[in-house]
Amino acid sequence: MALADNMKQELAGIKPSEILAFNEEISQIPDVIKLTLGEPDFNTPEHVKSAAIKSIEENHSHYAPSSGIPALRKAAADFLANKYNAHYDPSSEIIVTVGATGGIYSALTAILNPGDEVIIPVPIFPLYIPITSLNGATPVLMDTTADNFLLTPEKLDAELTKRDGKVKAVVMNFPTNPTGATYTREELTAVADVLRQHDVFVISDEIYSELVFDQEHVSLGELLPEQTILLNGVSKSHAMTGYRVGILAAPKAIAQKIAMVHQFTVTSATTSSQEAALEAFQNGPDDGLVMKAEYEKRRDFVVAGLREAGFELETPRGTFYAFAKIPAALGTDSFAVCRQLAKEAKVAVIPGASFPAGEGHIRLSFAASMTDLEEAISRIKAFMATQPQTVEMMEAN
Ligand SMILES: Cc1ncc(COP(=O)(O)O)c(C=O)c1O
Repeated sequence: MALADNMKQELAGIKPSEILAFNEEISQIPDVIKLTLGEPDFNTPEHVKSAAIKSIEENHSHYAPSSGIPALRKAAADFLANKYNAHYDPSSEIIVTVGATGGIYSALTAILNPGDEVIIPVPIFPLYIPITSLNGATPVLMDTTADNFLLTPEKLDAELTKRDGKVKAVVMNFPTNPTGATYTREELTAVADVLRQHDVFVISDEIYSELVFDQEHVSLGELLPEQTILLNGVSKSHAMTGYRVGILAAPKAIAQKIAMVHQFTVTSATTSSQEAALEAFQNGPDDGLVMKAEYEKRRDFVVAGLREAGFELETPRGTFYAFAKIPAALGTDSFAVCRQLAKEAKVAVIPGASFPAGEGHIRLSFAASMTDLEEAISRIKAFMATQPQTVEMMEAN
């Protein structure tokens, strides 16, 4: 037997990220406007960059404490408390991870046993699914498309009751990648009330918390701290995806065990990146709000433009994604439609089918300049006008 055939069996059922593969594929097309990737187009704020440079120049090139530099843990705890009324002890309940991704990996690895089930509402950022599988546990996908992409308390309760005793954790991500959906205080309270009735961990990925429009962001760190493993970080709020700094917060007894997985996986997050994140939380807690104001303008423009072009979509309440239903004239095969859009309209967006239960949709990232978005929307409109059924519809009107 080839050695490669004798590796962890769960890997056989896992595929590389379709989002990255599709992005690579369409990047070959000349003059294409890419609205594909999930990261801010802004630069990291200058004061944060200066802190990173200073850290390197002062030779802070040594290992950091495994759970993070104490000052950063304190600044992160203050950030969560001041912004979201979520209270954690910096020295025992906060871990600085390698991006939110590192936190998701450590949290799931620390809680899952083979045979456990993990409820994952979909469409959602796919990462939780392979990590669940790699731990020998089973992802149970709950389709939220009929409920405006949110979990309803009734359906969640029914699922948890049906699977009583088997479900180890429920994953929540809000605002949600790719749909932009998020919960009001009332909606989240109702979901938290259900979760409280069941003996489950809640992995609450709130990495887009600073990018919520028109309403407050309410955290499960406030509503359900005893069961919640909260994930946040500076990737989206401070345009720092490449720095790879995330924050995990959980009750002490839980955090201490997750800290061991984190320690044995990565030792610690990069020291200079942590010092940059410290500057971000301490002296720029509202940096994200400036970017948010810009995203909001782009959101309004993109939503209106897509609707005019014939796409149906909910107005995203957060994130920088628009998740739109593909017009009937184009069919429902999102990969085929996105390839066609990329080749003929020269606009690249992510096929909905890259996300479970997302077929029939496209995800457009408006983390791009207004100039690019204006050109992209005008190209999409021109493309749609050439589609036979669209022309017929327009003539009928
Ligand atoms: C919902 C969600 N969680 C986590 C991440 C990854 O965050 P990080 O870059 O901090 O690892 C992403 C990135 O797109 C995301 O969309």
